[in-house]
Amino acid sequence: MKPRKTIREIEVDGRRVFVRVDFNVPVENGEVTNDKRIRATIPTINYLKEHGARIILASHLGRPKGERKPEFSLAPVAKRAEEILGTPVKFVEDCIGPEVEKAAAELENGEILLLENLRFHKGETKNDPEFARALAKSAELYVNDAFGTAHRAHASTVGVPALLKPAVAGFLIEAELKYLGEALSNPKRPFVAILGGAKVSDKIPVIESLLEKVDALLIGGGMAFTFLKAQGYDVGRSLLEEDQIEMARGFLKKAKERRVKLLLPVDVVVASDMKNPEDARTVPIDTILSDQAGYDIGVETVHRFGDVIREAGTVVWNGPMGVFEKEQFASGTLGIAQAVATSSAVSIVGGGDSVAAVSRLQLENRLTHVSTGGGATIEFLEGKELPGVAALDEAESSAREAAVEGAA
Ligand code: 3PG
Repeated sequence: MKPRKTIREIEVDGRRVFVRVDFNVPVENGEVTNDKRIRATIPTINYLKEHGARIILASHLGRPKGERKPEFSLAPVAKRAEEILGTPVKFVEDCIGPEVEKAAAELENGEILLLENLRFHKGETKNDPEFARALAKSAELYVNDAFGTAHRAHASTVGVPALLKPAVAGFLIEAELKYLGEALSNPKRPFVAILGGAKVSDKIPVIESLLEKVDALLIGGGMAFTFLKAQGYDVGRSLLEEDQIEMARGFLKKAKERRVKLLLPVDVVVASDMKNPEDARTVPIDTILSDQAGYDIGVETVHRFGDVIREAGTVVWNGPMGVFEKEQFASGTLGIAQAVATSSAVSIVGGGDSVAAVSRLQLENRLTHVSTGGGATIEFLEGKELPGVAALDEAESSAREAAVEGAA
């Protein structure tokens, strides 16, 4: 992906700037319960404020499917953002229309306005040109700092930057592209990827892409059982995707051919019932009984994965090792979080549960980079171009290089 122009390279003083942020945060009873994504945009917002921009923040929250649903209102987010930024954040109850235009026109230099949920209008996810024009009407310049939404080709991520120029990246997008990009294109070796989560079918393209790049691939979580089955193990009632066994077998073969060390669990925590795991215990993977299911990786697996992680130059981790929300099945994910955070490798963690495990142990500061992306991080690791990034202006030097190359 080509380097993109950033807010450092544009003049924002006195200009109305449309800033797409990803404030898709959990809200319960009108309170934001995790504000990490809001905090991640502070450097961009503060920079714009200090440089005299009139800041118009826009985001989605949840999937209200084009309807105005109060539980998806960004009003609680405006309140939380105000507390975090220590400065007023005005809020307007729509994202297009005369009221928005008036509020935007009244902004003074350095003032901040947050628009209501973009997805209260169907035009957002459809990338409707008319809706994009209505959004663009209140602003003069465009900044995208919503890395978590960069894999969506929506009106606010693709339509608006085509209308408002310059259209540049904020510091969060810049940082995400730097760390994830360097890990993929120029990793310090050995390059180790850790993948978890429930399904192989969700991770096929990312496994395909990583097998081309990594030195070791460690697989845990529900998806590991399909691989174990492909190796001939009985996995009892563990999560199994029958239709992906062949695919898993193909990946095992490819890893061997490419000399990628592919590690699977050697022991797992099993129980007869995930909801009432009184009988939870750790067993070697060749002794899972037919009425048992595995819900976490075992302690020996954590050791073995940990040994590989300690030797790594770069570690990328996405996806939990087990049913992390349940105490009885959390130790695998927490053990891996500990190993990643204490290794001297360049460490990048992405995805809700893996990030939650790291924060539960308060180890975030020991990582090189905690990605704010879920789906966006996965698509980046798959090697896909993210539409929200592709829609931004190229950095001056790379545009010049391209012109010279083109002329040659
Ligand atoms: C996310 O949480 O991954 C982003 O905010 C994108 O949300 P979406 O999957 O609803 O588009």
